Amino acid sequence: MTPDQELALIAAATAVRLRAYAPYSNFFVGAALLCDDGRIVVGCNVENASYGHTVCAERSAVLAMVAEGFRAFSACVVVTDGVELSTPCGACRQVLHEFATEAIVICANLRGERRQYTMAELLPHPFGPADLT
Ligand code: THU
Repeated sequence: MTPDQELALIAAATAVRLRAYAPYSNFFVGAALLCDDGRIVVGCNVENASYGHTVCAERSAVLAMVAEGFRAFSACVVVTDGVELSTPCGACRQVLHEFATEAIVICANLRGERRQYTMAELLPHPFGPADLT
C-alpha cells in the first residue's frame, strides 16, 4: 500500500463513518478496504432496535466488497472516535480473515492517531477456508 492509498483509505473510512446508523450506542464506526485492483470499498455500522442484529462497520464493508465482485483486500482501515483506538471485534476479525489472511488493519481516530496490526496479530490460530480442504 502506498502512502497515498493509506490516506485515501483513512479519508474514505472517516467519511463513511458519518453515515453510520448508531442511535443506540452513538458509537460511529467507518471502515474502508483496499481491494486488489486499488478500488476502495467502504462500510459503516448499522444498528437495530433488536440490538443483536447490529452489523459492524468492518463486516458491512466486507459484504459490500463481495457484492462489488471482489474477493480479497490488502488493507482495512477502521475509524472510530473513542478515548482509545478501537480494534475490530472478534466476529469482524473472523469475517475479515476469510478474505485477507495477509492483510494489514489500521485503526485510526479523528485525532489523527493510528496503529497498525497484521491479521495474524489480531486473529492468531484462525479457523479459515484451509481448514475445510
Ligand atoms: N462496532 C463496529 O462497527 N465494529 C467493531 O469492530 C466493534 C463495534 C459497532 C457496533 C455497534 O454499532 C457499536 O460499534 C457499539 O458496539
